[in-house]
Amino acid sequence: MVDARAVEKSFGDGPDRIHVLKQVNFQARTGEITMLVGPSGCGKTTLLSAVAGTLKIESGGIRVFDHDLEKMSNGALTRFRAKSIGFIFQQFNLIPTLTIAENVGVPLQIQGLSSGKALMRSREILDRVGLGNRWKDRPSKLSGGQQQRVAIARALVHEPPLVICDEPTAALDAQNGEIVLDLFRQVARSPERAVIIVTHDNRIFSYADRIARMDDGEIVEVREQSQEHAPHFEHEHAMTGD
Ligand SMILES: Nc1ncnc2c1ncn2[C@@H]1O[C@H](COP(=O)(O)OP(=O)(O)OP(=O)(O)O)[C@@H](O)[C@H]1O
Ligand SMILES: [Mg+2]
Repeated sequence: MVDARAVEKSFGDGPDRIHVLKQVNFQARTGEITMLVGPSGCGKTTLLSAVAGTLKIESGGIRVFDHDLEKMSNGALTRFRAKSIGFIFQQFNLIPTLTIAENVGVPLQIQGLSSGKALMRSREILDRVGLGNRWKDRPSKLSGGQQQRVAIARALVHEPPLVICDEPTAALDAQNGEIVLDLFRQVARSPERAVIIVTHDNRIFSYADRIARMDDGEIVEVREQSQEHAPHFEHEHAMTGD
């Protein structure tokens, strides 16, 4: 369970100060996919960064599983993040000097797995996102959508209980988007794991168990959605001109 209460955050000083998170309350449950939607600049990435513990908030509280993030020391927070949170950034943040398999293996190596074992697990998950044959390439050789899938593989490889993704399907076509959403669905099938997705992509809304809508630094609506019917990726209509 992720529980953010009355979270406040501003950036800048004096007249340039902007109030980005205004008493935000936001919850995400284990066993569910929670989507966070809203216009560009409304504060979605800022809120996710706070939930992931990479951004300090000014007031309010954020509880992730049984940890109050603001009460943790920097060291404890870093260790908790490495083990428990898989974060897919809006910019993919791949390390250019490493192969894509080495990039994916970073979270495993942080946890002390040998490089041989890390490579094996990395190649397995790269296979699942359709990049098994590219494991030796550097990120610069890949397309945007391929890099995005590497970032997704890296966030999932160590099976963290919380997966947070900022626009995970923005650069993906329907087929790869479906593969990725099925992976997230599988994570959220576990009663101990939660997925939070920021998205503008209306092709994927049917995968959400709940959708929180944000506007100008506030959560303005939360909608629960039944997953009784199998979710489906909305394929684009063929562009035939008529
Ligand atoms: N480090 C920062 N310093 C100053 N201002 C920032 C910083 N990070 C974000 N902001 C500002 O906070 C506001 C919210 O930004 P945020 O990135 O959270 O928006 P978003 O909802 O994720 O938008 P998008 O959909 O375009 O990604 C914006 O006005 C942005 O300029
Ligand atoms: Mg953003």
